[in-house]
Amino acid sequence: MTDTQTTTLSADPTLDLAQAARDHLFVGMANPVQLEAEGGPLIIDRAEGIYLYDAGGQRYIDGISGMYFRNVGYGREEIARAIYDQIARVSMNVYAGVTSSTVTLAAKLAQIAPGDLTRTFFCQGGSEANESSIKMARAYHVRRGDRGRFKVISRQGSYHGGTWGTMWLGEHPFFPRTDYQPSPSHCIVVPGPNMYRCAFNSTSPEQCGELSARAIEQEILRQGPDSVSAVIGEPVTQPLGGVVPPPNYWPLVREICDRYGVLLIFDEVITGFGRVGTWFGADLVGVTPDIMSFAKGVTSGYFPLGGSMASAKIAEVFEGGPEKTWSHMYTYSAHPGGAAAALSNLEIVERENLVDNARQRGEQLAGLLQEMKQRHPIIGDVRGTGLIQGIEFVKDRATKEHFDPSQGVNAMLTAELKERGVWLRVPPYILPFAPPLTITADELDELASKVDEALTTVEQRLGMARG
Ligand SMILES: Cc1ncc(COP(=O)(O)O)c(C=O)c1O
Repeated sequence: MTDTQTTTLSADPTLDLAQAARDHLFVGMANPVQLEAEGGPLIIDRAEGIYLYDAGGQRYIDGISGMYFRNVGYGREEIARAIYDQIARVSMNVYAGVTSSTVTLAAKLAQIAPGDLTRTFFCQGGSEANESSIKMARAYHVRRGDRGRFKVISRQGSYHGGTWGTMWLGEHPFFPRTDYQPSPSHCIVVPGPNMYRCAFNSTSPEQCGELSARAIEQEILRQGPDSVSAVIGEPVTQPLGGVVPPPNYWPLVREICDRYGVLLIFDEVITGFGRVGTWFGADLVGVTPDIMSFAKGVTSGYFPLGGSMASAKIAEVFEGGPEKTWSHMYTYSAHPGGAAAALSNLEIVERENLVDNARQRGEQLAGLLQEMKQRHPIIGDVRGTGLIQGIEFVKDRATKEHFDPSQGVNAMLTAELKERGVWLRVPPYILPFAPPLTITADELDELASKVDEALTTVEQRLGMARG
């Protein structure tokens, strides 16, 4: 790969990259003034394992795996080679055609996915995966004569994508949608089961789980069950730093969906492929959805790939003559380069026991964060499982009050972490952790000690007394 590397890297040496980025790029969800104040966007020059290096040679631990996708870490030449070999042989399939890598991947997914999720529609990423899943759910009902079922219930504190059909699902606390109002009438949002701030003021996880699930039932009844197509949710929710629902929540939601003929869609875009310490979030919560969306960790970001998997019950309504065809596609659906990347990536996950490592390192991380909580008054709550965890930071632990955004505490933390060689962009009041699943015990200790130092410095700047 080294030969091709030198010929394919295409930076223009005469260009001032930082200036050109300012002039010519929209950097997703980033504010140009803020980036300017930070010295411009991070320009990654190279990366290896859990570390990335900027153009000046500064090394950073990637604390959030790119954006929750770099499960097998950086620098996997075997994945790059698998993509190269596939694309050199067949660069893309043809209309109504498939390639062997895509079929092999679909069969592999059927083998590892929970329950009877055995048929996959491939697309390019998580938003398209969820878009496909909600279209699949809607088409399923129509095929069964339930034309009125078009509403989708999602939960506050969730994110399901940036396309028009998915951006109104969930309510990501840090992604305002004010530029895009009005919201479409099919998207209904209910509280999620977050024990730290339970919408029902529950005192026990059991009760919070029960009441949060019942909120979905009440909404189905309020809307009229015949109008509801699906409930969508992530088994463990990322935007709030890895909210793990109480154990009774998902089984109860499953029962409720079945009772009213509503489909259950799991968004496993982050939780899939080992991050929670099991292969899928569904395995962790012990519930099989009717439809499952995936992306990110399926290729560890080496190629854009996502998909939507149907259970037997769903797949069978699309079986039969031409009138049964599911009318849905994207030009680049089932890209063979993506399939080759995924097969190689999944082989690494299996060979290196990365699912087990995520579980073990997750236990280590939970212990480190709990210990830090004893000493840092800024930590209101720690949560999560496997390698999706987070800290909710607060101004006052007793009242759980957040800092005023004008204090810029998240920017302060981001800067302190960056200075110590940790790449983590901190949103308001949540400090997320999702390193690659390859992280070792020593590397995790290194990450935690840098976080510890950064928290100490920020607390000192804020004049907070140590616990
Ligand atoms: C849970 C979840 N679903 C869907 C998406 C959208 O995926 P993408 O950005 O690949 O379209 C994301 C992105 O972060 C996500 O976290």
